[in-house]
Amino acid sequence: MRRMLALLLLCNAHALRTPHPLLSSAAAHTYRADAGREFARIAPHIKTSLLENSNKTQDLAAGKALLKKMDRAAQTPADLTAVARRGYIRTVYDDRAFQVAEMFGAAHRAGVKLARGARVASLGGGPGCCVLGYRVFERIAFGSATSRLWVYDYADAWRDDVAALARALDEPIPFGACDLARGLHAPENDEVRALAPTLDVVLLSRTLSEVPDRGWTPFLRELWATLKSGAVVFVKDEQDVEAEAVDLLGGDAWSVPGVRGVFLRHGE
Ligand SMILES: C[S@@+](CC[C@H](N)C(=O)[O-])C[C@H]1O[C@@H](n2cnc3c(N)ncnc32)[C@H](O)[C@@H]1O
Repeated sequence: MRRMLALLLLCNAHALRTPHPLLSSAAAHTYRADAGREFARIAPHIKTSLLENSNKTQDLAAGKALLKKMDRAAQTPADLTAVARRGYIRTVYDDRAFQVAEMFGAAHRAGVKLARGARVASLGGGPGCCVLGYRVFERIAFGSATSRLWVYDYADAWRDDVAALARALDEPIPFGACDLARGLHAPENDEVRALAPTLDVVLLSRTLSEVPDRGWTPFLRELWATLKSGAVVFVKDEQDVEAEAVDLLGGDAWSVPGVRGVFLRHGE
């Protein structure tokens, strides 16, 4: 399976120029249109309160500066000021939620086993856009929204953003602390450690690469050892980080050539 993933990654340059069958089929087009409608319905309920009385130009400038730091793994929780978070929400939120929904839809159509009623946690989840993406996926794929959602991050500043998402979805979405740079058994990760054996899906979207020097490997290895059989870890990140995660966990891996994101299923 690892060799297959390496081959798929090597094929990326070609795959980017040719429509991928999984993402360009009639089913994919229908799914994408449904997802667009779902996002359009929910997004105003989330964002109106978060962005009210703010200056768009200032938000975008602060968001850009934050993203630059994130790209260099140079950000700290102190960089997540209100204006920078609004910038993130204005520039990244929709795309990221959509990308997660898109990938789960593609995986589901391809036969990756994803069950309704899943317990789903986003780690390094920021404002919760990834769990929103999962929610949109399940509404379309299963016709209902029966998952339970959690968000963890090392920056407590995201709490209000996750609360806004919970209000919009009219359900509790617990938000807590985690530090991917520390092992799962570090006190910072107490809540995640307690929850992990009950989870069906773990989302790690654009967050491992923010931990310098591959400092996330002890956390991920220990998390994997704690997850139940059949649980899925979804890593969406730089190509080398995704490949390292596959290597580290050695699980059954599934991905779409040319599209960032790999699904790892915990075996028996
Ligand atoms: C680029 S954002 C991604 C947020 C969200 N997962 C997404 O896909 O949009 C990176 C997130 O990782 C968090 N983060 C960075 N280093 C972390 C660490 N050591 N432990 C936990 N979270 C971390 C940041 O606070 C931020 O919310």
